[in-house]
Parts: sequence; structure tokens; C-alpha cells
Amino acid sequence: APADVRDLLLSRIRDVPDHPQPGVVFKDITPLLADPAAFTALTEALSELCVRHGATKVVGLEARGFILAAPVAVRAGLGFIPVRKAGKLPGATLSQAYDLEYGSAEIEVHAEDLDSGDRVMVIDDVLATGGTAGAAAELIRRGGAEVAGVAVLMELGFLGGRGKLEPVLRGAPLEAL
Ligand code: PRP
Repeated sequence: APADVRDLLLSRIRDVPDHPQPGVVFKDITPLLADPAAFTALTEALSELCVRHGATKVVGLEARGFILAAPVAVRAGLGFIPVRKAGKLPGATLSQAYDLEYGSAEIEVHAEDLDSGDRVMVIDDVLATGGTAGAAAELIRRGGAEVAGVAVLMELGFLGGRGKLEPVLRGAPLEAL
């Protein structure tokens, strides 16, 4: 993102020490969402990435990814696909498990939301270990569609998520504003 947009976005992200557990600094985006200028700038920047990378649909990752991806889909004129935590979607789903630091998690998508010929941009607030975004990329491919890229508000570089995600993306871009 241009320096002025980046500075605006950064100024509206709050660091919350020791949340949700001791030693973790939580990145709280609620001040950004509450500021219409910042939320609009974020929506526009993410929409531009969708257009630049030829996306035909947008995936949002539950829950905070939904908040960002939905206005991007509307702004860019693209369909919105929710990727949800396991057990929430009522129709026929594809499921993908992935590793957490301790244990594992599972996300799902409605199989009917993905078609061959779709180029899907994955949108989320934070890239941490890259596990969630990587699992979403696998789901998109298993649904017969192509991954246009992953676009996040922020990347926590010290966790090395990019290095883990890039092989899964097979050349599709990882964009962090
Ligand atoms: C957070 C964040 C990303 C994911 C990033 O979601 O919004 O989706 O973790 O972590 P990773 O790169 O290590 O996979 P969380 O699971 O906390 O869900 P929430 O949005 O429902 O709070």
C-alpha cells in the first residue's frame, strides 16, 4: 500500500499485550473498523489487489476475514465465499485440516461455491503461521478453482508464515498491506 495508506492503517491497529494468553501481543483491528476513512482505505487497497491479480471471487476466512472480505467483494463486483470453521456450513462441504502450534483445526467451504475457471483471492486480517491461509488455498484447489492469491492487512513476519505458505501457493502472490 502507499505510505500514507499504510501509516493510516497502522495507526488504527492496537497492540494488546497478553491476549488471549500471556506472552502473546494481540493485533486488534476494531479501531480500524470503527474509523470509516481507514476501513474505506483498507477496502479499496484490498479491492485493487483483487483486480490486479485477476480474481473472479473472494474468499473470507472466519471470523475477522469476513469483515474485510465482504466489502471488498461488493466494491470489486465479485462473489463472496465464506470459509468457515468446521461444522457451520449446512450444505455439502470440502474440509481441510491444518496444524496449529498445539493441536490442529479444520475449515470448510461449500463445494458448490467453487467452479473450474474461478480465480479466488483469499482475504484475511492477519497472516501468522500461515496455516489457515494455506488450508484455504488447498480447499480452493480441491474445489477445482485456481488461487489468485492471498491478501492480508498484516503479516507477522517473525512467525515465518510466508515461508510456509509460499510453497502451497505455487507462485500465486502473497500480498500484505
Ligand atoms: C486468526 C486470524 C487468521 C488466523 C491467522 O484467526 O484472523 O485467520 O488466525 O493465523 P495463522 O496464520 O497462524 O493460521 P482466529 O483463528 O483467531 O479466528 P477469528 O478470526 O475467528 O478470531
